[in-house]
Amino acid sequence: MPEQQITLRRIHDSDAIALYRWQQDPGTHAFDPVNASPSFDKHLAWFVGRWATEHTRWFIAELHGQPIGTAYVDAHEDKIWLSVVIAPELRGRGLGSALVRLASVTLLRQGEPMLWARIHQGNEASLWAFTGAGYKLDRQEGVWTFHYLTAGGAARPGAPTK
Ligand SMILES: CC(C)(COP(=O)(O)OP(=O)(O)OC[C@H]1O[C@@H](n2cnc3c(N)ncnc32)[C@H](O)[C@@H]1OP(=O)(O)O)[C@@H](O)C(=O)NCCC(=O)NCCS
Repeated sequence: MPEQQITLRRIHDSDAIALYRWQQDPGTHAFDPVNASPSFDKHLAWFVGRWATEHTRWFIAELHGQPIGTAYVDAHEDKIWLSVVIAPELRGRGLGSALVRLASVTLLRQGEPMLWARIHQGNEASLWAFTGAGYKLDRQEGVWTFHYLTAGGAARPGAPTK
């Protein structure tokens, strides 16, 4: 299972380049075109701003010592929202599901009481990665909203079924 192989570490400033490459891939924003293809300057401004406020809750996932994805949170509406990105060339191998599980458990262990996720309808890989990790459906209005309270395995009642 990939989650037995991937590890999380805190983000470093040197990760800005890998993140820029992942952000530039069209598939990364297929369901969120508003944030697609930032210029490098815009990306750096985003990176520095996020670093200032969220670096303790911003992770790089590694497999065999190589960066393969990122997990980060946004705090708004009095909630903590988890997002994940897997390197484009490594998608579809179970790493996204593993990263959601590992990041969720890590954040809860760090003291977050509850995590939330917002998933654009049609983003099947994201949907199954989060529901498979135990996220439970709250609202379904164009964007699915999920919450996660405890480490879990199978999708809970209320979550869509495959
Ligand atoms: C979403 C994302 C993180 C998923 O990572 P991934 O490594 O490609 O996903 P996985 O291979 O772990 O697949 C996740 C689940 O979706 C399923 N899945 C993947 N693609 C699918 C598709 N097109 N249709 C249906 N199910 C699909 C997999 O079978 C797996 O389910 P399982 O865990 O029950 O077996 C990755 O695609 C990505 O970085 N996308 C761009 C950024 C993004 O959309 N992030 C999510 C917003 S928070």
